[in-house]
Formats: sequence, structure tokens, C-alpha cells
Amino acid sequence: MFDEYGIPRGAELGEAGLPALQHFVYCSRASDGVDDTEVGRIVESAQRRNLACGITGVLVFGSGVFFQWIEGPAAPMQKLIASLYDDPRHYDIVSLDQSEEKRERLYPNWDMEKVEAEDIRLVLQDALESTDNKTSVAALRRILKQLDAGSLHALRQI
Ligand SMILES: Cc1cc2nc3c(=O)[nH]c(=O)nc-3n(C[C@H](O)[C@H](O)[C@H](O)COP(=O)(O)O)c2cc1C
Repeated sequence: MFDEYGIPRGAELGEAGLPALQHFVYCSRASDGVDDTEVGRIVESAQRRNLACGITGVLVFGSGVFFQWIEGPAAPMQKLIASLYDDPRHYDIVSLDQSEEKRERLYPNWDMEKVEAEDIRLVLQDALESTDNKTSVAALRRILKQLDAGSLHALRQI
């Protein structure tokens, strides 16, 4: 009757029998003072909360830049997105993609990766090329400039 997240079976199933999943992809910059210990706290609490409400995804952190893909049922996703925008531990949040589709999950498990700065740069450059939104372009350019300014050598290890 209920799935592993306590969500009634069939409640989010579409015509094709696939779950209607909302996803949100963004990148942001870690605020001053957000060190490895704080990122560890974010991950620990996110794992617990996400599991409770059926949200999965991936969080990437390198050179002071976050990149996150989250997916799950609409209601808890909306709540989490609002919390993310209010969270002072990061800023310059650039929404890269947000939509709802009937499909399998891309990330069936919550995960966390540490990436090299060059990988983060590729993700950001791709995003820059695929958006026309002026605010997003400005924020993405600021993040890339920060990477060029030398934090390439200040990788934070998870
Ligand atoms: C980069 C980053 C990623 C986060 N990812 C998640 C997440 O996946 N799930 C989650 O519950 N909270 C996540 N958080 C924490 C939320 O922003 C927020 O603090 C938490 O959901 C509690 O929100 P509330 O105080 O409004 O209930 C993240 C925070 C940051 C800075």
C-alpha cells in the first residue's frame, strides 16, 4: 500500500505507469565559514530528511562551489527548494533546470561526490552556454571568475 518513503503506491503514477517526478538543478557558492565540517553537517541532515520524504539526488562540492540535482514528489520538492533559497550557507544560487516529468529516477540513491575544480568548471560552462537568463549568466560568470582567481588550488576535501 505504501512505498519505502511512506508514499501511497500509485499516488504519483502517471498514465505511463511511471512516477511524476519533479527535479531541480542548481549551482551556488559556499558562504564564508562554510568549511568541510559544515558541509558534512549539511550532507548528514540532508540524507535523513530526503529519505523521509522521497527525495534523492546528488550533491557535488569543489572549489567552494556547490552543484546539486534533486528529484522527488512535487510537494516536498517545493518545500526543499524554498528552504535552499533561504539557506545562508550558500549564495549566488543559479537555477539551471527545473521541471516535472513522468520518468524513472536519475539518482535512485542520495549521494555526495567530491570533484576536481576542472569538472565543476565544465558543468558551469555547459550551464552558461545553455541559458539566456541574464541573472543566471551574470552569476555563472562570477563563479567562473572565482575559479580562475586561484581557488583552483583550494579544493575542499569531503
Ligand atoms: C548546498 C546545500 C544543499 C542542501 N541540500 C539539502 C537536501 O538535499 N535536503 C535537505 O533536506 N536539506 C538540504 N539542505 C539544507 C536546507 O537548505 C535546509 O537547511 C533544510 O532543509 C532545513 O530547512 P528548514 O529549516 O526550512 O526546515 C542543503 C543546504 C545547502 C547549503
